[in-house]
Amino acid sequence: MQSTIKRIGVLTSGGDAPGMNAAIRAVVRAARYYQLNVTGIQRGYDGLIKGEFVEMNSQSVSNIIQRGGTILKTARSNEFRTVEGRKQAFAQLKQQSIDALIVIGGDGTFAGARLIGTEFSIPIVGIAGTIDNDLWGTDFAIGYDTAINTVINAVDKLRDTAESHDRVFIVEVMGRDSGLIALRSGIGAGAEAILIPESQTDIDALLLRLETSRKDKASKIIMVAEGDEMGGALQVARILEERFPKRYDIRVSILGHIQRGGAPSCLDRVLASRLGVAAVEALLAGRQAEMVGIVKGEFSYIPFEQAIKHIGEVNPNLLKLVEILSL
Ligand code: F6P
Repeated sequence: MQSTIKRIGVLTSGGDAPGMNAAIRAVVRAARYYQLNVTGIQRGYDGLIKGEFVEMNSQSVSNIIQRGGTILKTARSNEFRTVEGRKQAFAQLKQQSIDALIVIGGDGTFAGARLIGTEFSIPIVGIAGTIDNDLWGTDFAIGYDTAINTVINAVDKLRDTAESHDRVFIVEVMGRDSGLIALRSGIGAGAEAILIPESQTDIDALLLRLETSRKDKASKIIMVAEGDEMGGALQVARILEERFPKRYDIRVSILGHIQRGGAPSCLDRVLASRLGVAAVEALLAGRQAEMVGIVKGEFSYIPFEQAIKHIGEVNPNLLKLVEILSL
């Protein structure tokens, strides 16, 4: 591959996701394979502005494929949202002789990359890494598979206690304004109902379903995406209690940041390894301002502005599945 790129920088930004380390490892090893130098940038765009750099080689990424979090650390940078912040960031890149960047993260990360990339014409390729999986142009983002497995493991445990006490558990999961975590993990955990922002929640239909379905089974799991328009698990519990005072023994469980931690699943490790290598190869092939993802097993290269387009829709067949299976 003919390219003028000699040194690449790599950073993780936004919320951490399991598998980010596997992606960093793949980027560094691929870069070394193609005889490029690699600078690790710590704490995302904040660290870039402040000049928090670390030289990386094959050894610096040993024994991290199995670790959650990100060895480069991460941050959500307000300074990088300003032109002045991005100017400083570019000056740092120049000073370090970094010719191109690989950024690992979600929509906020790519929005920032799009801005600095066009303002200062530096080649940047993005790797989809967010448990929310809310990026356009990849079937899976790194971290999503691990997160939904973390959720089903937690819900399996909740079901034991729900079943023993005949309780209704309302479980809130992450996803910001996306319901993809709730939908897939809800199906995987056999939830009786799943509330997500992509489909209008009909609270009366939900209540009717609770009242009429499976009289022999008092315990139920209702999965609520944090971004659902009902306003979260506590709100749903309140409405249920108001409408049917003392009818149900209700408990709320908000899973929170546990969903972002832990060792990445095999799927996430393989995905991260493939995307890391593909990102380096994309830069060497002259690609820029694109996120690399995988659709139906094949690499896809999506301009940042399309990748961050909010999806806002889910496969209706999956919603139907929930209805059929919760009878
Ligand atoms: O984007 C990942 C995510 O975990 C969302 O699901 C959640 O809404 C948000 O980050 C939480 O962000 P923070 O860790 O900054 O509170």
